[in-house]
Amino acid sequence: MVFITDSQEETEWLGGWLMCRFSRTHRTFLLFGDLGSGKTSLTRGMVRVAGGYGVRSPTFTLVNVYKTPIRRIFHVDLYRVETPEDFYTLGVADFLGREMTIVEWADRLPERVEGVRVFLKNLGGNRREIRVSPD
Ligand SMILES: Nc1ncnc2c1ncn2[C@@H]1O[C@H](COP(=O)(O)OP(=O)(O)OP(=O)(O)O)[C@@H](O)[C@H]1O
Ligand SMILES: [Mg+2]
Repeated sequence: MVFITDSQEETEWLGGWLMCRFSRTHRTFLLFGDLGSGKTSLTRGMVRVAGGYGVRSPTFTLVNVYKTPIRRIFHVDLYRVETPEDFYTLGVADFLGREMTIVEWADRLPERVEGVRVFLKNLGGNRREIRVSPD
């Protein structure tokens, strides 16, 4: 599936739809895309539709956890992860695959992980292409 969004709000709404579409069948969401492509915005919409709030970029903390009425949602940013050692030190491997987890900079994962894959691309201005697999 390919979507085009023209604002941050639209990307958030798309995140809400993704959560509705996949949360029954998938618990891992892998986000790929350059700086500013909209990964955190998409995450905000995903968490909001589940009843959570307060999504900010976890770039400095690396892992945030949001409480929602039905589950916890882990939000991970691997931008600063450069080696497998960095990754394993973070402790993400302890909950990845068990808890609902959204991973920004998923290309930094040192191993193959199953999940919904979302590829975000900045097309210039406020336009973003957002590709989702599976459809
Ligand atoms: N269509 C759009 N979708 C999402 N964000 C948009 C869009 N158009 C403009 N923006 C702007 O682009 C930025 C996206 O930031 P966001 O933090 O969501 O990206 P990110 O991919 O998480 O970046 P980073 O790699 O730094 O974590 C925001 O400043 C937002 O306002
Ligand atoms: Mg981000």
